[in-house]
Amino acid sequence: MANDQDPPRRRFLKAGVAAGAALGAGSVAHAATKAQFKQPIDPMLVVEPFFGEHQAGIVTPQQSHTYVASLDLTTDKREEVIGLLKEWTDAAARMSRGDTAKPLPADDKAAPDSGDILGLGAAGLTITFGFGPGLFTHEGKDRYGLEKRRPAALVDLPRFNGDQLLPQKTGGDILIQACANDAQVAFHAVRQLARMGYGIVAMRWAQAGFLSGPRGQTPRNLMGFKDGTNNPSTAKPALMNQFVWANAPDAPWMNGGTYTVVRRIRITLEHWDTMERGFQEQVMGREKYSGAPIGKKNEFDALDLDAADKDGNQVIPENSHVRLSNQATNNGAQILRRSYSYNDGTDFYIERWPPWRQETEYDAGLIFVAHQSDPRTGFVPINERLAKFDMMNQFTTHVGSAVFACPPGVRPGSFIGAGLFEA
Ligand code: HEM
Repeated sequence: MANDQDPPRRRFLKAGVAAGAALGAGSVAHAATKAQFKQPIDPMLVVEPFFGEHQAGIVTPQQSHTYVASLDLTTDKREEVIGLLKEWTDAAARMSRGDTAKPLPADDKAAPDSGDILGLGAAGLTITFGFGPGLFTHEGKDRYGLEKRRPAALVDLPRFNGDQLLPQKTGGDILIQACANDAQVAFHAVRQLARMGYGIVAMRWAQAGFLSGPRGQTPRNLMGFKDGTNNPSTAKPALMNQFVWANAPDAPWMNGGTYTVVRRIRITLEHWDTMERGFQEQVMGREKYSGAPIGKKNEFDALDLDAADKDGNQVIPENSHVRLSNQATNNGAQILRRSYSYNDGTDFYIERWPPWRQETEYDAGLIFVAHQSDPRTGFVPINERLAKFDMMNQFTTHVGSAVFACPPGVRPGSFIGAGLFEA
C-alpha cells in the first residue's frame, strides 16, 4: 500500500540515495549520477534512517515484508522498562544500518546476535515501537507511575459487530513492527529485541506479512485488488499533520507520534475465489484489473459517490467497501493504511457466512495496520460502519486486534518514548 504517495521516480531517488549511504558517504554523489538512475536499485542495500522527527516505518514507502510483534511487560520496575527502551533504541539504530543488534565479541563467548543477517544488508529495515494500554495500567495497577500520562486517544477499542477476536492474537503492552525488503531481516530484528527483553517482556503474539507489487505501483492484496490507492498522500505534510501525527494537548509527549491500530483479518479465500469478478467489484466499489472506481478508467480517478446509472442506481454500491470507508461517508475522517497480507498455512475453520463450509481452509488474509492522529475520529467510527454494513464482511473475519501509541521519532543520544518518562 501507499506506493501511490511516492511517485516511482521519487522512490527510486530515495532508494538510490539510501543505497549510496549504505556504501559510504562517497557513494552518495555516485548514486545521484544519471547512469545510476538506469540501474535497478538492490532492495537489500536500501537504508532507511532510524533517527528523525517521526519514527521510521509509518510514512516510509512499504517494504516487501513485515514482522509485527506484540509483547507484554512482565516487570514491575519502571527503571527496567526505561533501561530496555534505551537498549532497544541503540540496537534498532544499529540494525537499521544493516549491522548486528550489538557488536559481536572477538572471542567465542555467546554472541549477542543470532547472526543470520550477516552479509545481507539493511534491506530497508524500519523498526517502529508502540505502547499499548497495559503500559499505563495493568489489571487496575499503575505499575510504572504512568497512569496519568495515558493519552485519551489511546482508547480501548470497542467490540465491533462480527468480531471474533482470539485472545492469543489480541492486545499487548508493546508493539515492535519491523518492515524490510527481506523476511529474514524483519524477523531477525524482532528476535534480537525480544531476546534483550527476557525477564522484562514476554511475547504475546506475532505475525509475519508480505506484500508484492510491480515497482512504483500499488500492490494487490490476496483478494486480487489494488490496496492503498486512496490513502492520504504521505508526500503532503499538511495531510499527515491533520490525519496521522498526534498533536493533542493532553499528551504532548506524543506530538509527532501516531496511534496505530492492528487487526488480523482472516479472509475466506476459498469462498471469495468462487465469486464472479463483477460481484467482487461491486463488493469493493472498484474495478479489479485497473483499480479504478467502478465506471471510471484509471486507478487514481476521483471516487464519485454521487454517480448514478441511467436507471438512477448508484454506480458505487451502497454497501461497497470504498463507499463506506471513504472520508465523505465518515465526516472527513482519513487513516493511513499500511497493511500486509499474511498466509499462515491452513486450519479447520467454520465459515460464518453461507455456504458455512466446515473444512480445512487457508488461514490467510490481511494484517491491517492503520496510523492516525486519533482512533476516536479515525479507525473506530470507520470500522463501526464497515463492521455493520460492508459487503466484504461475507468474506472477512477480524480475529486479532490491538492499539498502540507510537511515540515520535528519536534524536541521537535519546531513546524511544523518552518524553513519556520525563518528570
Ligand atoms: C481484509 C480486509 C480489507 C481489505 C481486503 C481491504 C481492501 C481495500 C481495498 C481493495 C480498497 C480500495 C483501494 C484503496 O483505496 O486502497 C480499500 C479502501 C479502503 N479501506 Fe479497506 N480493506 C480491508 C479492511 C479495511 C478496514 C478494517 C478499514 C478501516 C476500518 C479499511 C479502510 C479503508 C479505507 C479508508 C479505504 C479508502 C476508501 C476511499 O476513500 O476510497 N479497510 N480497502
